Amino acid sequence: MSDLIYDRMLKGDAKLAVIGLGYVGLPIALDFARKIKVVGFDINQERVDLMKNKIDPSNELESKDFDGCDILFSADLNDLKDVQFFIVAVPTPIDSANLPDLTPLLGASKTVAKVLKKGDYVVYESTVYPGCTEEDCIPVLESVSGLKFNDDFKVGYSPERINPGDKVHTLQNVVKVSAGCCEESSEEIAKTYELVVKAGVHRAPSIKVAEAAKIIENTQRDVNIALINELSIIFNKLNINTFDVLEAAGTKWNFLKFSPGLVGGHCIGVDPYYLTHKAQQAGYHAKIITSGRYVNDSMGFYIAKQTVKKILSQGKNIQDSKVLVMGATFKEDVSDIRNSKVIDIVNELNSFQVKVDLVDPHASSDEMQREYGVPLSPIGSDYDAVIVAVNHASYLELEESYFQSILKDKQGVFVDVKGIYKGKVNELEYWSL
Ligand SMILES: NC(=O)c1ccc[n+]([C@@H]2O[C@H](COP(=O)([O-])OP(=O)(O)OC[C@H]3O[C@@H](n4cnc5c(N)ncnc54)[C@H](O)[C@@H]3O)[C@@H](O)[C@H]2O)c1
Repeated sequence: MSDLIYDRMLKGDAKLAVIGLGYVGLPIALDFARKIKVVGFDINQERVDLMKNKIDPSNELESKDFDGCDILFSADLNDLKDVQFFIVAVPTPIDSANLPDLTPLLGASKTVAKVLKKGDYVVYESTVYPGCTEEDCIPVLESVSGLKFNDDFKVGYSPERINPGDKVHTLQNVVKVSAGCCEESSEEIAKTYELVVKAGVHRAPSIKVAEAAKIIENTQRDVNIALINELSIIFNKLNINTFDVLEAAGTKWNFLKFSPGLVGGHCIGVDPYYLTHKAQQAGYHAKIITSGRYVNDSMGFYIAKQTVKKILSQGKNIQDSKVLVMGATFKEDVSDIRNSKVIDIVNELNSFQVKVDLVDPHASSDEMQREYGVPLSPIGSDYDAVIVAVNHASYLELEESYFQSILKDKQGVFVDVKGIYKGKVNELEYWSL
């Protein structure tokens, strides 16, 4: 074989496939498909059919984003047989005990292994703990394909940094980290990504370093938010507004700007558990990271309890109370409800027998029902409390008079989880983190 993989793909002699076309996989597949031949593979036929019709099942991309792409969407293994460069971007969730669930990752590795040939490349993008690619994935690739890692096929790792709902930090304009299993593969993989990442590619010295870099980006964020959440619990006891404190402290050049809130979704609230699991295996019990996870995972229950206290302090019977929770998604301006911590607020309120209506302009009621057994409701009236749990753009414009109009007797408790109405709500019983 004379040409290396990068040149062969550029010439159209080799194809690239993306395995798993979700939030991460689809944008990558489409970006590559503007430069080289691509197969977009997913096990979910329904999602594949939507993508064939230029519909992004994750609601992030528009139909025009599919234009000008040389891509075959497929759920058929046969369509992967003539592919030489595989990118795996399947989910890496945790199970009910907060331990890594590698089922999709190992399943996708088996799929690739079935069609793997001499000279092929496999690059993992899914977020994992350091060592996962070499210790968990490569053995599957070898045993199912019968080929030998390094001699017959190359492996790399390149973590994804996209941020759902963020149109500013995109795949093209954020530096990407990549690593290969040898010098040649590192360069071939980096050059391949440079086809689509205008900001450039950072070549990490090893696969483990690239894996660790990704996992600490999200762990650092999780721990920092946990610290601010803990501070907000302390300041609440001291009757100080946390956002006032953060504004004052933020005037110092080196104060890190994090704010309190719910930490949900499938990245920040999940990835640290991959690292703590690996640390445990290596004989170290991570203390700061697990404490941070504990604090962040408790915030929904804390917010609900504070709301109950405020309602009680107004002399009301909690079992006759009605609360409106605004926002169900895991973050602002996305439709993604996976691992949304808003549901903890709803469940905790329900445990006090409070009647709760949940609304959201972006989430699907069917999905909420399927995932959490809680559908969305229309906005009603005569509430005892309103909790704005997610700072969706459409909520920012709302005025105090609007909240008064849906509260019983135009009075009641107003919980501003993200502090977005600070200074704008004066008549109601205001509380924020
Ligand atoms: N979403 C993000 O913003 C983001 C950012 C950075 C990193 N990540 C990481 O990227 C990875 C993918 O996340 P995502 O959000 O794109 O997931 P996702 O749930 O949006 O999409 C995953 C896709 O993979 C498909 N799939 C599942 N198992 C498969 C298999 N065995 N073979 C083929 N396809 C399969 C699913 O049908 C789905 O279409 C995860 O490891 C995640 O932690 C995600």
